[in-house]
Amino acid sequence: MIFKKGELFCGPGGLALGAKMARVVDQNGVEYKVEHEWANDIDEFACKTYAHNICPDKPHTVIQKDVRKLDLDSLGEIDAFAFGFPCNDYSNVGERKGLEGEYGPLYTYGVKVLRKFRPKWFIAENVSGLQSANDGLAFSMILKDLKESGYRITPHLYKFEDYGIPQTRHRIIIVGIRDDINKEFKVPAPTHGEGRLPYKTARQALTEPPIPSNAFNHEMTRHSSKVIELLNHIPAGENAWYEEIPEHLRLNVKGARISQIYRRLHPDLPAYTVTGSGGGGTHMYHWSEPRALTNRERARLQTFPDDFVFMGGKEKVRQQIGMAVPPEGAKIIIEAILKTFAGIEYESVEPKWSADEFMHQQLELDLISV
Ligand SMILES: C[S@@+](CC[C@H](N)C(=O)[O-])C[C@H]1O[C@@H](n2cnc3c(N)ncnc32)[C@H](O)[C@@H]1O
Repeated sequence: MIFKKGELFCGPGGLALGAKMARVVDQNGVEYKVEHEWANDIDEFACKTYAHNICPDKPHTVIQKDVRKLDLDSLGEIDAFAFGFPCNDYSNVGERKGLEGEYGPLYTYGVKVLRKFRPKWFIAENVSGLQSANDGLAFSMILKDLKESGYRITPHLYKFEDYGIPQTRHRIIIVGIRDDINKEFKVPAPTHGEGRLPYKTARQALTEPPIPSNAFNHEMTRHSSKVIELLNHIPAGENAWYEEIPEHLRLNVKGARISQIYRRLHPDLPAYTVTGSGGGGTHMYHWSEPRALTNRERARLQTFPDDFVFMGGKEKVRQQIGMAVPPEGAKIIIEAILKTFAGIEYESVEPKWSADEFMHQQLELDLISV
């Protein structure tokens, strides 16, 4: 059974690669898998990366455009839908005009796709901060809109390190199955961590196997001698606020001290979260060599294979890698969806939120809209 997938906010294709790799076979030998149909993103280089790696034989199906100008009528039918919507702006949550307004919050364009194409299932992704945005009302409203589009939803906070990803990365992922389909998605059980398999470490990710010096996107950053000296005084796992850094090298920062500044990886732990933006000191630093990671090393922490080529300059590539869903993590969740459809049992845990938990907040939303 092949699910044709459409995708909004496709980025470089982290979710898409997970979907492409996912495959299950039921007891009758029937294969369940996902095939790319179309994708959209506003960013030129993310689209180029996606087309090059996910659908090189039909690059025209990756449409580079602001989603607010995308003509849904021009897109082909789909059975599955993915959208890692940006958490740009929920400021008009209380106004309740999102779905109708031309420039509503970006997730509403995903809701429009669900209502128009009625895919059998969807997967949506967002940062963990979504749960507290607008005092929780944004999350509540998004879940309500997804449910009211005709889906049974399972929102959960996935801790990717618990699934063998060499990085502490926590993301809200919502899986929806169309109301008329009698299948119940369950959150796949963690496989790594205490009492389970050991966590995958930063060292394993970066050295097993070693990265060839001519690997794609593997250019080193040139640092000033002061940065190198500073890094040489920071032990693995510590950051720019380590107390034994000599006075003359200390950063002169007033206010909040961000713990990721010049933070070096700990080789025997999963890495901290790979991010896509930020200035000096936020590029993630090697545990033994006094330098920032290369994009290929960041891609390894995100579980992209070495032959996945990112397009664009160094900063554009860093941005794409930092925004993506780790493909190996996406694969685990999408295979669980495929197993749900194939009727294959798998170990599961309770979701962090039950879809009904938000009823009281929905009541508040309804009151706001009166
Ligand atoms: C979190 S990333 C998605 C990453 C993707 N799910 C992956 O796994 O690779 C969000 C994406 O939304 C895109 N985006 C932001 N505003 C947009 C808009 N108005 N129209 C279309 N895409 C937009 C960004 O360019 C970015 O690639």
